[in-house]
Amino acid sequence: MNVDFLPLNGTDYVELYVGNAKQSALYYQYAFGYELIAYSGPETGIRDRASYVLKQGKIRLILTSPMQPEGPIADHIRLHGDGVKVLALWVDDAEKSWKETTTRGAVSVEAPKTLSDQFGSVKVASIKTYGDTIHTFVERKDYSGVFLPGFMPKKSSYTPTPIGLQYIDHCVGNVDLGEMNKWVAFYENVMGFKLLITFDDKDISTEYSALMSKVVSNGNGYVKFPINEPAEGKKKSQIEEYLDFYKGPGVQHMAIATDDIIHTVGELRKRGVEFLEVPSSYYEDLLDRVGKIDEDLQPLKDLNILVDRDEEGYLLQIFTKPIQDRPTLFFEIIQRKGAKSFGKGNFKALFEAIEREQELRGNL
Ligand code: FE2
Repeated sequence: MNVDFLPLNGTDYVELYVGNAKQSALYYQYAFGYELIAYSGPETGIRDRASYVLKQGKIRLILTSPMQPEGPIADHIRLHGDGVKVLALWVDDAEKSWKETTTRGAVSVEAPKTLSDQFGSVKVASIKTYGDTIHTFVERKDYSGVFLPGFMPKKSSYTPTPIGLQYIDHCVGNVDLGEMNKWVAFYENVMGFKLLITFDDKDISTEYSALMSKVVSNGNGYVKFPINEPAEGKKKSQIEEYLDFYKGPGVQHMAIATDDIIHTVGELRKRGVEFLEVPSSYYEDLLDRVGKIDEDLQPLKDLNILVDRDEEGYLLQIFTKPIQDRPTLFFEIIQRKGAKSFGKGNFKALFEAIEREQELRGNL
């Protein structure tokens, strides 16, 4: 029998290190409709950082800034700019998760420890993944507080309406040329994930630039990590541009699921979020390519939402432009209608759209 040595209940939270967490927190509330629920910082006895916890659906984003120029958070931001530091995984046994992975070769960042306050205790432990990114195992079955011990509830006087963001569908990592298979092997051997899909440079190349991608998934399919590496093209791959500006491997995008993408993207656009644009010719033969869909074509075209079909159904998706000035992290909004794939039919149109942006930045 094949026992899953690292059972995961899902993503617990994603923590970003950012230059100005107070202002970023307002951006995510205003533009993406997240609710501010908790805070830790000097007022809660944490001297070296301020952290804001934002929630929508099952998604928890933590935004953290350092209080001083010294230390690992400031170093991370100086090197990488704003970016994802922690992909935290919700487990029933943090100590066992840490032991199972470190005995299989994971590099420990923090051995299991217990955090406590009046609401109970949480066990956490962390291991390294690609670049400076880490996975933190979070065991919270004995905790009833707002987030983690050390955080206090915090509300904002500004409460935007949520826009239908439900959960994190997948988180994508960009790694160096020739390193994709190493990281796929890490997820397979160290974390017990399975290889789900492989895209080679024939699937994902435009006239100019290319990339390769493999998707790994945990046992129950709740956690999916596509891993990209650049491939040889006539010009610079979008993955190379990311690596040049993030200064190494890191999280390229988080895909967030919605069950009404037309509403979600309409709201995001109204609130100023910028998206990649595909040419209107994309929509001319769309229904020939994907067959019958429930949505009207016009709002999809107006909002520039893409559609792709696989054997099990179809999906709707759209990608934001990078959400900081460095061309690094961005978001995908995805609505699945049966399809479990990642929009392969859209790769060409999308990558051409990315290349137009790279060209404008002088990075192609
Ligand atoms: Fe994606």
